Amino acid sequence: MSVNRQILLKSRPEGAPGLDNFELVERPIPEPGEGELLMRTLYLSLDPYMRGRMSAAKSYAKPAEVGQPMVGGTVGEVVRSRHPQYAAGDTVLGFGGWQQYATSNGAGLRKLDPKAAPLSTALGVLGMPGMTAYVGLTEIGQPKPGETVAVAAASGAVGSVVGQIARIKGCRAIGIAGGSDKCRFVREELGFDACVDHRAPDFARQLAAACPNGIDVYFENVGGAVQQTVWPLLNDFARVPVCGLIAQYNLTSPMGGPDMFTVLRKRLLLRGFIVSDFADKRDEFLREASEWVRSGRLKYREDIVEGLERAPAAFLGLLQGKNFGKLLVKVG
Ligand SMILES: NC(=O)c1ccc[n+]([C@@H]2O[C@H](COP(=O)([O-])OP(=O)(O)OC[C@H]3O[C@@H](n4cnc5c(N)ncnc54)[C@H](OP(=O)(O)O)[C@@H]3O)[C@@H](O)[C@H]2O)c1
Repeated sequence: MSVNRQILLKSRPEGAPGLDNFELVERPIPEPGEGELLMRTLYLSLDPYMRGRMSAAKSYAKPAEVGQPMVGGTVGEVVRSRHPQYAAGDTVLGFGGWQQYATSNGAGLRKLDPKAAPLSTALGVLGMPGMTAYVGLTEIGQPKPGETVAVAAASGAVGSVVGQIARIKGCRAIGIAGGSDKCRFVREELGFDACVDHRAPDFARQLAAACPNGIDVYFENVGGAVQQTVWPLLNDFARVPVCGLIAQYNLTSPMGGPDMFTVLRKRLLLRGFIVSDFADKRDEFLREASEWVRSGRLKYREDIVEGLERAPAAFLGLLQGKNFGKLLVKVG
């Protein structure tokens, strides 16, 4: 193998992205410079935040550059190293992007122990999405035993972990997911108390029935119509960790937000967060979550697509709810 296949951001989308916003190219494999290493991608993580990076709109992170490989978290194998702390054969968690090979100067890289857990989990349940669930729920949601915690995209990378941790903390976990297969999985495999299909015509009635005592923590993953249905069910003093708004990422004009009189009257606590705000919690998260995964208290499901060339279509599917579990591309 002497070529590096890459998927570039070809153009920025207006509204929903399409396959034409991406381009597959073949380039020479880069040589690591002094103090650098070359990694071969084994797994590429596909995540909703990538929709934001495709856009030039102001955000918490700078956009991906047109004509450059799309950005993304990766698990890779070091194939050549001129870095003192890494050797060929090491497995690393990094940010190699949508390509087969990437160089790194070691910044933000972490060595993985392939014996400790399946490598792919470093991008899912034991990685950024798992940690997002952990810090958002425990630090902002502050769940108390007996309370009701609701989360949408409940079969996905973040939502699946939110509900299971809520159960571990002694709460009632209510999932919201798209379709009966996902809802069944969330109830029967993940052990949520209930899961409601947001595409059902009587979604609002079903959700109210599943939450007879209202909702104390709404972990906001999607926004849009789901948020508007949840809102009237919030109890006084409910907490709303605002994690993601995937239902709104393709909108070209703002949609009406929550009723702020409700925020006032019910004394709701809303707080937006980015997982990196809680970087100091990483060791605590890894310790707790690794133990829960080992003991079977924290289950996870992966949706693995084979081949880098399939990444654009898989990513577009993620924005439409076609993934079932943490979406990954097996590259190598
Ligand atoms: N703040 C942070 O630091 C941070 C970090 C990671 C993730 N996030 C956010 O967390 C959320 C979940 O991310 P994830 O990685 O766990 O993704 P995921 O749940 O594995 O996949 C995305 C899911 O979103 C749901 N969805 C898509 N469009 C929707 C719509 N219009 N209405 C309702 N649901 C829709 C679909 O599930 P259904 O088919 O079940 O509806 C889809 O499968 C995203 O909003 C993401 O941006 C935030």
